[in-house]
Amino acid sequence: MIEARSCERFRILSESLEDTKLRSFYKKLMISEANHYNLFLSFVRSLGESKEKVDKKWQALLDYEAKLMRNLGKSGTIHG
Ligand SMILES: [Fe+2]
Repeated sequence: MIEARSCERFRILSESLEDTKLRSFYKKLMISEANHYNLFLSFVRSLGESKEKVDKKWQALLDYEAKLMRNLGKSGTIHG
């Protein structure tokens, strides 16, 4: 989940900065982080956990995070 959120933060930077080199840099980091979180999910699935069990846990974490965000705020920030 941390990797997924890093991906989102790098997307914000890659779309918000005026410096084209920095935009490109953060876009590459965004892609890298997207690959990381998908890789980690595939690792846990390959270690014997069923897709359904992994997806259920993933959804539970997303639900918990959403609950936190509702209570703490949900605007897009880098260190928020
Ligand atoms: Fe990463």
